Amino acid sequence: MASPISFFQLNTGAKIPSVGLGTWQAAEGLVGNAVAAAVKFGYRHIDCAQIYGNEKEIGSVLKKLFEDGVVKREDLWITSKLWCTDHAPEEVPAALDRTLKDLQLDYLDLYLIHWPVRMKHGSTGFAPENFLAPDIPSTWRAMEALFDSGKARAIGVSNFSSKKLGDLLEVARVPPAVNQVECHLSWQQDKLREFCKSKGVHLTGYSPLGSRGTTWLKGGDILENPILKEIAEKLGKTPAQVALRWGLQKGHSVLPKSTSDSRIKENFDVFDWSIPEDLFAKFSEFHQAKLLVGTFFANENYVYRTVEELWDGEI
Ligand code: A2P
Repeated sequence: MASPISFFQLNTGAKIPSVGLGTWQAAEGLVGNAVAAAVKFGYRHIDCAQIYGNEKEIGSVLKKLFEDGVVKREDLWITSKLWCTDHAPEEVPAALDRTLKDLQLDYLDLYLIHWPVRMKHGSTGFAPENFLAPDIPSTWRAMEALFDSGKARAIGVSNFSSKKLGDLLEVARVPPAVNQVECHLSWQQDKLREFCKSKGVHLTGYSPLGSRGTTWLKGGDILENPILKEIAEKLGKTPAQVALRWGLQKGHSVLPKSTSDSRIKENFDVFDWSIPEDLFAKFSEFHQAKLLVGTFFANENYVYRTVEELWDGEI
């Protein structure tokens, strides 16, 4: 009997729905329809970020879904993220307030530090002069205040290596509930996964389908991988469904992005079946290559001179 794996429990006691709709690169004009379609198909988790530039459109749709009685606020899980230009402690509550205003909500279920990178407030782009040394402990204290206020019911981080997460855990009063990182068949994150597990931090995987079509990401199309295609055929599922189910069986939540109604539906059909152990084992043969290297956050005058320093060697 397949385990449905619908939720994972966080260190706050809250249950995060295991499949969320990703909204990175979901274009304006399309993202609203995607959110509405996802909720109608049963998604209860929407992953947002201020930097994606589409929170206003998502907010209008959420408002309508609540008004029409399609879903109740308390039954949805909404995540958003603090952008690098708002790391100064006094900017953190203002950034959350802007996101809440755009999303037309009075609290978030989860608020994440988007990157362990600080940039000048109000700056745009990745010019070297925009970068400032991060001070994660002070940014985190401001995040903890948001947690205390109830405006962020859980707080966490994104794109943190094991080392950076460990350093934060040393000083945190409220431990991060989640580390949201790139995670898929071609970047399985075994080391970070074990570390998160040992510390009670839940791992959420972004780009679970390999963000196909994103030309500036390194690497090929995971969904075209012959091992994956063969296993999907054996199970009578699509490669995308198997890639997502792999994540759930590994124990992390997944955030597939789509703006196509049929693919949004397809990506949610991952609960009443499972990948048997013998086939599951074949995924360890996948060639590993990180797609989102983050070159734009490393330069020779910054605290991260190289991407190896950004990821503390986990690359
Ligand atoms: P689209 O939005 O047109 O559906 P990721 O979640 O790893 O970032 O991947 C997102 C990319 O994968 C988008 O290009 C999205 O395109 C595509 N995609 C989403 N779901 C599927 C699916 N079930 N099959 C094939 N491609 C998909």
